[in-house]
Amino acid sequence: MIDRGEKLLPPNFRKLGIAGRRAALTAAYGTEGDDLKAILGGDAELAESMVESAVGFAPLPLGIASGFLIDGRSYDIPMAVEEASVIAAASFAANLVRKEGGFSTWATEPLMTAQVYLEDVPPGREREIESRESEIRADLDAFLASMRGRGGGYRGLDVARIAETGLVRVRLRIDVRDAMGANVLDGAAERVAPSLETISGGRRLMCVLTNDAGDRRAGARFEIPARRLSRGPYSGEEAARRLELASRLAQADPSRAVTHNKGAMNGIVALALATGNDSRALEAGVHFWAAREGPYRGISSFKRVGERLEGSLELPLALGVVGGSVGFHPATAFALRMLGDPDGPGLSRIAAALGLAQNFAAVFALVTEGIQAGHMALHSRKRKDEA
Ligand code: MEV
Repeated sequence: MIDRGEKLLPPNFRKLGIAGRRAALTAAYGTEGDDLKAILGGDAELAESMVESAVGFAPLPLGIASGFLIDGRSYDIPMAVEEASVIAAASFAANLVRKEGGFSTWATEPLMTAQVYLEDVPPGREREIESRESEIRADLDAFLASMRGRGGGYRGLDVARIAETGLVRVRLRIDVRDAMGANVLDGAAERVAPSLETISGGRRLMCVLTNDAGDRRAGARFEIPARRLSRGPYSGEEAARRLELASRLAQADPSRAVTHNKGAMNGIVALALATGNDSRALEAGVHFWAAREGPYRGISSFKRVGERLEGSLELPLALGVVGGSVGFHPATAFALRMLGDPDGPGLSRIAAALGLAQNFAAVFALVTEGIQAGHMALHSRKRKDEA
């Protein structure tokens, strides 16, 4: 048992080198058992170069969902996830859909938004910002020169006053190409804030991106003959009818929709983690999107079209393949290599297909044999392996 009373980490823990931090951790929390050894087992220098106060890496299994056919190309998809049944479910759906032509996907240009909030802007003066947009553009074109070289860069702005606070919001639209974009967006907002203050007569409150990635969306769809869905006591046609009803339920009942969407995010977040992407930004953006019309709704749809079931999913995906910590850890670089080193929108398309597969597998199980049957099979296998 760790005695937390006396021995917490020293106040200068952050400033100790990683060896010192590990020694302090051992002194405070002991080394009995395998727990601390497991934490300290990773590449210390790599951990230290990624975050402050690092001591090691947290454990998360990396597995591979296989059998995906996406836009005519085969993929094995790396997934970092702790939930036993997720990868098996994705592979199951992938193999079912593969036989019927696979997933087709699309993605928008990777447009993201940086925001500057200004206070004390005299009434009406915010209009000045729009009329002097060319100055802002010139400044941002210079700041984003290398992004422009890769085909991205500044795409425009809009200005609004937020009634409840009186604050003026300036949104800067930027094509971030292959990056998730947080650093470049925050930098761009800070870059133009002094000019915006001068033009508007206001003072900045904050400069930061929005995690509303509604202009950076991707989608996937598939079609499968209903007869292929027969399971247990359910004919294929009946299973398809139940899937469609479950999909309508996720549009109508927010307290089901949130779990329905979690099923899609099981796959997408696992891919985000495997590739070193920011899963919190991704989740925030997706749930914001799900509630964009007021009520929170499902982000996918399953419907019968003649004798076929059609599945589709559309969502914002702020996923990058360069920058931030993407590719920093060798395992994340390997994950991207497995996917054929896609560009940013390419990774989003794979993620959309994976999310749809995951969501379909979960809802299909729920409306037929029930989720526990699948889950329990995996859990009992785990227990057997442990014995
Ligand atoms: C469990 O991780 C995910 C599900 O709850 C998703 C769903 O209910 O659709 C099975």
